[in-house]
Amino acid sequence: MAKPEYYVFVCSQQRPQGHPRGSCGERGAAGLIPRLSQSLMARNMHQKVSIVPTACLGPCSVGANMLVFPGEVLYKGVMADDLDSIVDSHFVNGQPLAAKVAPDAVW
Ligand code: FES
Repeated sequence: MAKPEYYVFVCSQQRPQGHPRGSCGERGAAGLIPRLSQSLMARNMHQKVSIVPTACLGPCSVGANMLVFPGEVLYKGVMADDLDSIVDSHFVNGQPLAAKVAPDAVW
């Protein structure tokens, strides 16, 4: 595999039901990685973007969250149906999808 252009850290943290911080896991994070992989493959971008499952990124209350490097772009409230748009905007066209980017105040 060639050196990736992007790394996407996908929060896969799961906490027990009723935990005060909640988790991305209870907001559908488990479905994000296979869907993201599928979206990248459909655009022949899977060699350029490395998907990294990770534990808590911090701002649990706005999850599910994904953090993209380079650029330190945090996507919040990500749902599976957002991923095609994120891939097209950020990885194909080089522009973060503003509607899903967390403001600096979040983290
Ligand atoms: S559980 Fe995902 S950011 Fe904390």
